[in-house]
Amino acid sequence: MMADVARQTPVGVLRAALCSTVFLLAIPAAQAQFSYDVPYVPTPPVVVEEMLRLAEVTAEDFVIDLGSGDGRVVIAAVSKFGARGIGVDLDPDRILESDYNASVAGVSDRVAFHRADLFKFEIHRASVITMYLLPSVNIRLRPRLLSELKPGTRIVSHDFDMEDWKPDAKSTVRKNVFLWIVPARVEGRWRLNLDLPNGARSYDIEIKQKFQEIDGLLRYDGKVAGLWNASLRGDRVRFTVVDDGGPLDSNLYFDGRVEEDVIAGVVLRGVGAEQKKINWRATRMAGGTAQ
Ligand SMILES: C[S@@+](CC[C@H](N)C(=O)[O-])C[C@H]1O[C@@H](n2cnc3c(N)ncnc32)[C@H](O)[C@@H]1O
Repeated sequence: MMADVARQTPVGVLRAALCSTVFLLAIPAAQAQFSYDVPYVPTPPVVVEEMLRLAEVTAEDFVIDLGSGDGRVVIAAVSKFGARGIGVDLDPDRILESDYNASVAGVSDRVAFHRADLFKFEIHRASVITMYLLPSVNIRLRPRLLSELKPGTRIVSHDFDMEDWKPDAKSTVRKNVFLWIVPARVEGRWRLNLDLPNGARSYDIEIKQKFQEIDGLLRYDGKVAGLWNASLRGDRVRFTVVDDGGPLDSNLYFDGRVEEDVIAGVVLRGVGAEQKKINWRATRMAGGTAQ
């Protein structure tokens, strides 16, 4: 039905025929006509489904579609997954169409459509952001996505990536769909306190971060150990420290959650029958750098 709406006018016929290649070529004309950052090209329903599946949308989610067109992405998130959501579009005709489509789908009480500029619209309440924009628009939005969204927020983009911010997952169902999970900020120096059987010890950890990719060092007793298998997914940080022959004489499997200037969780020391579970807590040290 939404494709039919898009085909009702000659402009709609032209739009519906656009594939992603001509989508790029169409920008200058569309900008000249509407001064919008992206022309209206609706996402095919099968791709909408794949975007929402990849983002693992549930009834707990609040979905914001930036540049929401006829509302199809948010309406599908609400009607198929039980989420709530908002669509944002500059075009008043798209907003009217979205309100109509929401009422036909019987979900008007769980969605709202706002005529607004996606570069100015508040996004912090989203747990999922959906976008079908352009590479240059994704890149302009990227600093806000990283700084304003909560760690763990999922971002899905139809067709276009975010350059050196590598996706956490990618799927291709007729079109490419990319998923990013907003990473917590862990770059910098942390003071780690561990309650070991032979007494409390403290260590320094230094973490380097590029988006969700992390690496680092742990300093203790005049020694330096690397962080192995270091990973960051939203606010969850994991790494392994090897201390063969040292005072701990074991592998230490760290797993924790970041909340502002604290990381807290458990360390599994050793494996199998000898494995011990120890709580850990690290606090950010002054002079730690931002991402
Ligand atoms: C490619 S369409 C995507 C529509 C919808 N998200 C979908 O996937 O079917 C991009 C939409 O962004 C809207 N748009 C362009 N520039 C915008 C801006 N600065 N703020 C808000 N919406 C904008 C256009 O009006 C258009 O509806």
